[in-house]
Amino acid sequence: MNAKTYKQSLLDALYAPYRHCTMCPLGTMGRTQVVFGEGNPDADILFIGEGPGASEDEQGRPFVGRSGKLLTKTLEGLGVARAEVFITNIVKCRPPENRQPTHQEAQICTSLFLFNQTKIIRPTIICTLGATALRSLLGDDIKISKTRGTTLSWDGYPLVPTYHPAYILRNATELPTFVQDLALVIELSK
Ligand code: SF4
Ligand code: URA
Repeated sequence: MNAKTYKQSLLDALYAPYRHCTMCPLGTMGRTQVVFGEGNPDADILFIGEGPGASEDEQGRPFVGRSGKLLTKTLEGLGVARAEVFITNIVKCRPPENRQPTHQEAQICTSLFLFNQTKIIRPTIICTLGATALRSLLGDDIKISKTRGTTLSWDGYPLVPTYHPAYILRNATELPTFVQDLALVIELSK
């Protein structure tokens, strides 16, 4: 069995008991399915967003709505296919009205899934998308405006924060910065 197949089997085993997870409040607040994440289980780059939105909740896949299309297109523009990377979120269930996940929800869900996904994938680099993902991993005091595009460290992994693609959709002038940050992430993954 190659590394990719082996890691995928570990991820499948991690998810299997939790298809209908109710370990945090988001499990009973209207989500239709748990969105664990997708991509190359042996990826060099791990992207972490905030949580599923309406399209993701419907399709059971991360970053498939407008934000996801921007992320996918930007990666492709930099020569990286979406299937090469792994994409997931801090919480795996859609929060009601797309509100931010609470500290408790983020803490419960990351200890069940994200921390274990990271241990299985063992990426070369992590990229957080938006303030919620960054703060959930590195603490509430950390400012995305000050740290985006720099290399921080989390759990022994280099971590580059950048903006959430939804923010770029509302603030088109920041697109070049987003592209630049993703280019850095790709460079550091090599
Ligand atoms: Fe379980 Fe995470 Fe969904 Fe909460 S957000 S119910 S911990 S899968
Ligand atoms: N926004 C996120 O943070 N995650 C998704 O999967 C989609 C939109």
